[in-house]
Parts: sequence; C-alpha cells; structure tokens
Amino acid sequence: MGIRIEERKGLFSLETAHTLYQMKADETGVLQHIWYGPRTDTDMSYRIRTVNRGFCGNPYEMQDRPDYSLDTLPQEYSGSGAGDYRSSALEAENHDGSMSVDWRYAGYRLLKGKVKPERLPGLRGNEETDGLEITLEDKANGLTVYLTYWLFDRYDVIVRSARIENRGSKGIILRKAATLCVDFPYGQQDVIHFHGRHAMERIPERTGIPTGGRLAFESCRGMSSHQSNPFIILCDPNTTERSGMCYGFMLMYSGNHLEEVSRDQTGSTRVVCGIHPEKFSWKLEPGDSFQTPEAILSCSMEGLNILSRNYHRVIRDEVISPRWRKARKPVLVNSWEACYFDFNADKLLELARSAADLGMEMLVLDDGWFGCRNDDTTSLGDWFCNEGKLGCSLKELAERIHSQGLKFGLWLEPEMISPDSDLYRAHPDWALTDPGRKPMVSRHQLVLDMGRQEVRDYLYDNISTILKEARIEYIKWDFNRSMANVYSRALPEDRQGEAAHRFMLGTYSLLERLTNTFPDVMIEGCSGGGGRFDAGMLYYCPQIWCSDNTDAVERLEIQKGTSYGYPACTMGSHVSASPNHQTGRTIPLETRGIVAQAGTFGYELDPAKLTEAERKTVKSQIADFHRYEELIAWGDYYRLDESESDFTSWMFVSPDRSKALLSIVATHVRANGPFPFVRLQGLDPEKTYRREDTGEHMTGAALMHGGISFPQFTGDYPAIQVCFSAAAD
Ligand code: GLA
Repeated sequence: MGIRIEERKGLFSLETAHTLYQMKADETGVLQHIWYGPRTDTDMSYRIRTVNRGFCGNPYEMQDRPDYSLDTLPQEYSGSGAGDYRSSALEAENHDGSMSVDWRYAGYRLLKGKVKPERLPGLRGNEETDGLEITLEDKANGLTVYLTYWLFDRYDVIVRSARIENRGSKGIILRKAATLCVDFPYGQQDVIHFHGRHAMERIPERTGIPTGGRLAFESCRGMSSHQSNPFIILCDPNTTERSGMCYGFMLMYSGNHLEEVSRDQTGSTRVVCGIHPEKFSWKLEPGDSFQTPEAILSCSMEGLNILSRNYHRVIRDEVISPRWRKARKPVLVNSWEACYFDFNADKLLELARSAADLGMEMLVLDDGWFGCRNDDTTSLGDWFCNEGKLGCSLKELAERIHSQGLKFGLWLEPEMISPDSDLYRAHPDWALTDPGRKPMVSRHQLVLDMGRQEVRDYLYDNISTILKEARIEYIKWDFNRSMANVYSRALPEDRQGEAAHRFMLGTYSLLERLTNTFPDVMIEGCSGGGGRFDAGMLYYCPQIWCSDNTDAVERLEIQKGTSYGYPACTMGSHVSASPNHQTGRTIPLETRGIVAQAGTFGYELDPAKLTEAERKTVKSQIADFHRYEELIAWGDYYRLDESESDFTSWMFVSPDRSKALLSIVATHVRANGPFPFVRLQGLDPEKTYRREDTGEHMTGAALMHGGISFPQFTGDYPAIQVCFSAAAD
C-alpha cells in the first residue's frame, strides 16, 4: 500500500487496501490518467491505445504523431481550448483575452501528514497520512496547478483537490476550477445521482450515459441543495448492492457544485466535479492562488453496499469532529412540529416535563424565540431573546429546562436576514442584493453577505453572547432559502463572480470559529430539512436534519437515498405525530419509531398529547434505541432490498459481527401476498446467531445465503425489527 513512483516511466501509483489509482507523465509532459480500479501491481498504461481518429488535432510538439491527441487520451486534469473537446477541469481568461489552458507536467512532491485545504473543510487524517502533490504548468500564461492526493488506504478512499496559482506576471481570471477529472477509456457505465426537492431529498436515480452526450448534476442555488446532492456513483450496468464495480465521487462542499459525466465519440467516460462554473469567476493577480474543495473518491469491486460502507466509515472517522465521533447523541424532542411559532416558557416547560417523563434527554427550542418573530416574516438577524413572548430570559428558560433533567438546544439561522429586522434597518448593505433591482425574496428573507468580516463578527458576537449567557448544549443551524442576486456590496465589479464562493468560505470560517470557542456545543446542520446535507457541513455538524418530511414511509426513501453516501449517525430523524403534518398519512407509532431509529433518534411532537398506550410505546422505543444505539451509530449498514418489493429493509452489523439489527417496513400490504423475505449481509458465515425474538439459532451462512422469511404482513405499514446476537464460541 502507499504511493509508488517510477520516475523513469513517469508513473505514479496510489494504492489503498484494494484499489489502485495510476497516472503517467508521458514523453510530451501530458499527465495521463491511467487507471482507477482493483489493485494489479502492473503499469496499466498498456491499455492506452492511440490512433488517428480524424478531427482530433495534435499538440504542436507532436504534429508528426496524428494519433496523439489530447482529445482522445485520458487526462488527469483537463485543460481547455487546446484540443481536448471534452469537459474541461479548468477554464481561464488570460490577460490578453485568450482562453487556452494547456498543462504539462512540472514535478511532484511526496507529502506526509494531512493538511486541510486552506479556509475549507477537509478530511482530517493525521501526521502519518501519505499524500502526493503533482504540479502541472502552462508555460504560456504562467498558470500552475498543484494536484493533491491523500490516501486513506484502509477505507479504500483517495482524497483529491487542486490549487491553482498564477505564477505569471499578469492577472488571470479563472472561469472554472474543478476539483477533479477522471477518465474511464473503456466500457459502458451507469451513473447514480441523488435528486430531490424540498421535503423529498436524495432520491437515487440510475441512468445510462449517452454517447456523445453530457449529463450535469448541479446546484446554482448557493447551497448544495435539496435538488442535487454533490455525490455521484459511476457503476457497471450489472452492478448491484451486493456485487460489481462502482466508483463514488463526493464533493466536500456546501455551495454551488457541478458533477459532469460525459461519454465521448470513442466510448470513453469522463467525470468532472467541482464548484459550479456558472456565475463563477476568480481573479488571480500574479502570485495569487485558488484552492478547490476536496473530493472523496472511493471504489468498490463488491457492489454498492461496500462503496457506501467505505463512505460511512471514512465520514465517521475522518470528517466528523473527534469531539463528536464517539459521543452519545441525546434523544431529543424538537418544538417545531409540536408547537411551531406558538409557545411561551410555560408551554415549553410542560413539553419538557412530559418529554423527560418518557425518557427524552434534550429539548430543542426551534424557530420563533428571538426578535419579534411569531411567523416567518420578520427578525432573522436579530438574535436577541424575545422575553416578552417567552415570559423569561433564555438563561432562565435554559435553567428551568435543565431542572427537568433535560439538555437544552436552540434554533438559529445565522446566514439570513429579514428585511423586517433591526439588523437590516441598520445594515441594508449586508444583504446580498443587486444594485438597482428589487431582490428575489424567499420565505420573506434575504441572504447575508457571509464573505464580509464585519458580518461574521456580528454573528460571532451575537451567538457567543447567547451561548455564554444561557446553558445551551446544541444548536440547530438552519438555512432556509436558495440564493439569488448574489452581489456583494463589498466586492469590486470585476470580482462579483467570487461572491458565492466567498459566502461559503465565510460560513465555514464562522462555523470554525464558533466550534473552536464552544467545542461542547453540538451543531446540527439543517437547510429546510436536508438542503445542505453534504460532507462540507458534516465537518462542523456531526448530524444534519435529513428532511422536513417526517412521514415515516417517505423517510424510508429519503434515508435510503441518503445512506448511499452518508452514515446513519449523521441523519437527523424523528418520530412525528400521526396523521403526519406533511402528508396527512397515518402510520403506526411502532413503525415511526423503527424508521426514526435508523438515524439520530428523536421526537418532533407534543408528548403531552400522547395516549397512555402511546406513552408506553415511546418509553420502550427509547429503551430499545439505547440498547441499539452503538450498533446504529457504529455498525456497518446494509440496504437489503432486492428488486421490486413491497417493503424496505436494512440492517446494521457491529464491527466485530457479533450483533445485527434487521428492520423491515411494509410499504404495500397485499391480500394473500408473498412472505416478506430478506437475505442478510455482513454477518460472519461461520458464527451461529441467536434470533432474539424467537430464540432460534442460525448460522451466518444460512442467514446470508438462505435468507429469512416472515409471516405475511397485514394492516397499515407494519414493521419488523429483529436483533441477532452471535452465540458464544
Ligand atoms: C426549517 C427546518 C424546520 C424548522 C423550520 C423553522 O424548515 O427544516 O425543521 O426548523 O425551518 O422555521
């Protein structure tokens, strides 16, 4: 394992436990992407064939080699306007208006000890993490790109990023600066992407790639978005959850992003991922550089479940803050669906009392406690307690909640400003709006210019005052609109293309500062539910509210889609009231509990409104959750659904494979229907497991190959949860 360099051949091999990533600087200095896949101990460049394909020009120095074209060779970081007509990784406007970028290899450096990309979140690693930096330059304009690769070998993960520097003597404008480009010269592939909408996020869709065409998965909303998650999977057409080649590309970024997947005239597939180039530009004066976000790449030869497992493990170990990595998450009750804007301290205390009685551990006070906010039309930015409404200070409220034995959490939406707020009246120029144009409003709010230090200082001072005054253990950090009119009053005209990315850098820097000062306050990310569910936010927020849709049947799809890239311990999931507030559907409390237990468990209802029987169920749900929480947070997760079925099923297996928790929820019950049947995964075939509900003993091999069936389902959305424990050897 590790990084092998054969200088004579110009060959760079990055090896993880099961994969090999290879590049080669050829005789022209072009850095070719040679291979990404299983380990082979071979120089894989034997696969690269060249032929004169016609209308594929040749670099000047190769004019006598009509078969040698940038348009047909696999590229490690494609330039633009210089003969590669596929998607470019970088586009620039040179000082003289010319727009070509043509890279040549200029050297490499071995790195030891992971460092985070400047001003951005990044995988953590340690002083032993191995890395490689390859330098490419364009001698004509002085642009230089440093491609960085970090190896997280035991997860089969490689982390890539690029830093672009202007080493010339004149200014250059970047029009596109992607994090990565990877070419796959052979074979037809599918792409899986995760689309959605508010209250229905991360729905997987699998599609072929049209030859000669280009697919774009993207967000230009100033956020990673409900509509398109910055994560895609490329896989063989026959890849399933249990078998087959697949590759993941996950951008660690929370703003505008673009994942391009194209298939060229020769059947070669290219993936380019990075910050979205639309409305983006970045001015590089001589000596300036631009750092792209990191991307997390992984490859599995054993199907999608193992690819997901690689991401789950690396996110838990290397993205989530060490402070929260192993921490127990309190079972919380959130005030939003319990009372929306309609509360005072007494009502909250009542909520806390009945929640504590049932075993809940934290009360989160959601929107409506600040400024004069009684609906969503005012006060964002005025982060001062509305004591008139509450009937006491935040400090007193926190004390009263704590005296019930509960922790206390608070909702904030720091990056926003209501036009009807004292903050806006004092600083209208702090909002992102175009000069001379009425701004687009959404939920009656505008977006703050987080790129400005004075804006961040204001928020830091306000939030730290709140956190110092009252005992608060948790913040729900929301972001409730898409951005538009992204114009910063603090940037010159020729730098407005930087505003959206500067916004993201500003948000990250505020989060960094607050988490450093208040390391014990856990921040849960949120954006109208899961509109900013990405690895960038997870660096600061160990969990993210998965969706504003709390309907357990809908959540099956949302949580399953989310699980392709992100571990269960990051998914905020709550039991809410029935009929459900978003869909009006009635679902048994037991089923709602089982679905919410596949994440960071909590409640989003008024416990005082529960019947005696429901209170009993809630108590046992919480007790069950405590029994399984380590398994859920730390176990390996497997999606078990096979082909079209009338139920959704998944399981967690402990790292030592001694315990497993199987959950099945019926989404369609049929008269005289088939028996629900699943084949388990991830168990030790040699071990004997005891099924805890029936006491039966079965080998791991039988459970995984022969599977297990259950009696036919009846009723509305019934669910089964079964725990298996390995019998002592
Ligand atoms: C967003 C969140 C909800 C709730 C509301 C409050 O929609 O996703 O959970 O906090 O804001 O306004």
